[in-house]
Amino acid sequence: MLAFSHIILRSQTHHLISPLPICLAVQTSCAEMANATATAGMLSPHVPGMRTGGRDMARLGMVRCWCRARRGKVMCAAPPSSVNGDVLMGNDVSKPRRLPRVVGMGSKLIGCGSAVPKFEISNDDMAEIVETSDEWISVRTGIHKRRVLTGEESVKGLAIEAGKKALEMAHVEPDEVDLVILCTSTPDDLFGTGAQVHTALGCKNAWAFDATAACSGFLVGLITATRFIKGGGYKNVLVIGADSLSRYVDWTDRGTCILFGDGAGAVLVQATAAEEDGFLGFDVHSDGQGYRHLNAKTSVGGTKEVIPNTNGSINFPPKKPAFSFIRMNGKEVFRFAVSSVPQSIVASLEEAGLTNSDIDWLLLHQANWRIIDAVATRLQIPSEKIISNLANYGNTSAASIPLALDEAVRGGKVKGGDIIAASGFGAGLTWGSAVMRWQ
Ligand code: ACO
Repeated sequence: MLAFSHIILRSQTHHLISPLPICLAVQTSCAEMANATATAGMLSPHVPGMRTGGRDMARLGMVRCWCRARRGKVMCAAPPSSVNGDVLMGNDVSKPRRLPRVVGMGSKLIGCGSAVPKFEISNDDMAEIVETSDEWISVRTGIHKRRVLTGEESVKGLAIEAGKKALEMAHVEPDEVDLVILCTSTPDDLFGTGAQVHTALGCKNAWAFDATAACSGFLVGLITATRFIKGGGYKNVLVIGADSLSRYVDWTDRGTCILFGDGAGAVLVQATAAEEDGFLGFDVHSDGQGYRHLNAKTSVGGTKEVIPNTNGSINFPPKKPAFSFIRMNGKEVFRFAVSSVPQSIVASLEEAGLTNSDIDWLLLHQANWRIIDAVATRLQIPSEKIISNLANYGNTSAASIPLALDEAVRGGKVKGGDIIAASGFGAGLTWGSAVMRWQ
C-alpha cells in the first residue's frame, strides 16, 4: 500500500529571512516519519554537513517533506488515529495527540528541578585520598566540594527527584508529558534508564529514551526536545540531565578524581506559539579526533571461551567489556573549551539575532572556574552575569547546567524573560550552545 503525507516545517528562528517555501523530498518508511519530522525541523546553519542545504532551508524557514509509506502502517503529519482501521504504532493511538501535529511551534522553559546525593566530599577530604590540597584544587578549578552517590542512591533516583520538582514548578501533571529525555552517560542499565524514570514519574502518556553526549548531553537533550515540539506536535517534554561520573573516576588519579561529582537537573520544555518562542538559537558540534583527550574506553574482560580457537576463528563468545576509568588530558580539554565555547555562543547569538550585550546570564557547563572565566572574558560578559555553582558540586557532567539553572531560578537570580546563553562541552568531543529565554 502506498500512502502519502505532507508536512510543512518552519524554521523556528524568529528572524526568518523569507517565508518562501522550498521542497525537500524524503522517502522513508512511515515508521520513521516521526524521526524525519523532528530531524527535518532540526536543520541548523551551524550543524556541520548541513551548511549548504541546511542553512538555506533553515534560513528560508520552510521545508516541505513528503513521506511515502510502503508497509501500510502510517505515521503522518496529520493526526489520524488509524489508517484503514490499522493500529498505527505500539503506543495506544486511541488517545488523541495533545496537539495536532502542527509544525512550527515555539517552545519555552517553564520549570526546573534538581537533586544531589547526600554524601559530600570536601577538598580536605580529597587530600586524605590522594596527594593534593584544598589550595591546589580551589585555585586550579574553583571546586571546594562535591557530592557522590552512596548506598541505595542511584542515577535513576536523582533523575526522578529532579524531574518531579521540574513538573511541580511547571504545574504540569505527569500524564501531560509526551516525552522524557534522560541525558546521561552513566545510566544504571546498559540499555538505558529513561523508561524507568518516566514510568516512576507517572508519565504514562509519554515515551522516553536516553541521550548520551557526556557533558554536552543536557544541551543535546534540550535541543532535541524543541525539535519534537516544533516538528512532532509534542506539547510537554521533560529533559533530565543526570550523571554519576564518580563511578568511572580513578580515585587514585589526583588529576581527575578531584574534578567530578554526581547530580541531576531537569527542565520542562513546553510548546508555545511560534511568535512566543523562547528558544532563540542553537549551535552543536562534535569532533571524534578529540576523543583521545577525554574518554572512558571499554576494555574487554576475561570470559571463558566455549569454542576453542582451533580453526583460525577468533575468540567466541565475545568477551564482556567493561569501561575503564576516565582518562583526560586536562590541558588539551582546557584549550578546546576556551576556544570552542565562545565561538559556539557567538554562533547561537547570531542565529538568535542577538549580541553578547543581550545576555542576562552566562550558564556554562560547570567544569572549571578558569574555563568559565576565560569564556566570559572572551565574550566580554561581566562576572556578575555568570551563573556558577561549581564550587559546591564540581563537574556533574550532563547534570551541571540544569542543576545550576535550578539553583539560580529558585534563588531568585534568574527571572521571567531573562536571556540565558548556555553551553555544554566535553567528551566526544562534543560541544554546543543555546540561547534561550526563561519562561
Ligand atoms: N593536586 C596537586 N597537584 C596536582 C593535582 C592535584 N589534584 N593534579 C595534578 N597535579 C600536579 C601534576 O602532577 C603536575 O605536577 P608536575 O608539574 O610536578 O608534573 C602539576 O600539578 C600540573 O598538572 P597539570 O595537569 O598540568 O595541571 P593543570 O594546570 O592543567 O590543571 C586541570 C589540571 C585542573 C585538570 C586542568 O587542566 C583542567 O581543568 N582542565 C579541563 C578539565 C575539564 O574541563 N574537563 C572537562 C571534562 S567534561 C567531560 O566531558 C567528562
